[in-house]
Amino acid sequence: MAKNPVIDILFESLTESTQENQILYRKIARNYDKSYKSLSLLAPTTLANTVSEYFSASGRNSKDLYTLDVCSGTGLCGEALRKVEWLGVIDGVDGCKEMLEVAQTKGIYRTLYHQLISAESPLPIQNSSYDLVTCTGGLSFGHLPYQCLEMLLDILVPGGLLAINVSSYKNPGSDVKYQESVEKTMKQLLGKCTLVKEVRVDVVKDDTRYSHGIEYEQILCYQKDA
Ligand SMILES: C[S@@+](CC[C@H](N)C(=O)[O-])C[C@H]1O[C@@H](n2cnc3c(N)ncnc32)[C@H](O)[C@@H]1O
Repeated sequence: MAKNPVIDILFESLTESTQENQILYRKIARNYDKSYKSLSLLAPTTLANTVSEYFSASGRNSKDLYTLDVCSGTGLCGEALRKVEWLGVIDGVDGCKEMLEVAQTKGIYRTLYHQLISAESPLPIQNSSYDLVTCTGGLSFGHLPYQCLEMLLDILVPGGLLAINVSSYKNPGSDVKYQESVEKTMKQLLGKCTLVKEVRVDVVKDDTRYSHGIEYEQILCYQKDA
């Protein structure tokens, strides 16, 4: 099977250092979309369908809703939202300038913030600014620190939705601790938000490229309490 730079970075080359991983993302930015789309990963699409159904069911029109896509990368989540006819403003934030440059060319995002988010370097956003915060592919070790999850809730308006994707790995290695910490953090935040939707998508099992890769992807939606 041909070498796939996204596979390499997602499953083979990532380290626990967010800074080192940024160097990898810089290198693959131009190839990211093509490589990603050749995989059977569906997080952006599943997330877009899930949030679109959620807001329609509550009678909200997407054109009135403001979204921040955290770890937006090249903009696959924004693209997936537009595919489900999401009309509202979408902003993005990512630590990798080269990934953002690709996102910029798509004409989907109003503002793209270049920031490597951490507890010491929080989002350049006022609290209660967005109706929807999305994050696909960003909640993993060496990516967005799980300590920042509360920050993502803070920038939502009361009643707003935090929609995140977490993946389960066949051989999780260092990621297992990170994923456990995400679960624990979200449980601790349950006084501040309510889990309103959970969708699981199994990744194609007979794809040999996943021998040490993702087993299933999960979309979790938390509504911020009023
Ligand atoms: C796997 S990609 C996901 C991109 C996109 N959301 C998608 O689903 O295709 C992860 C992205 O997270 C960004 N990232 C990782 N850690 C970050 C951090 N601490 N702050 C901001 N961006 C970060 C990377 O630069 C990269 O663009």
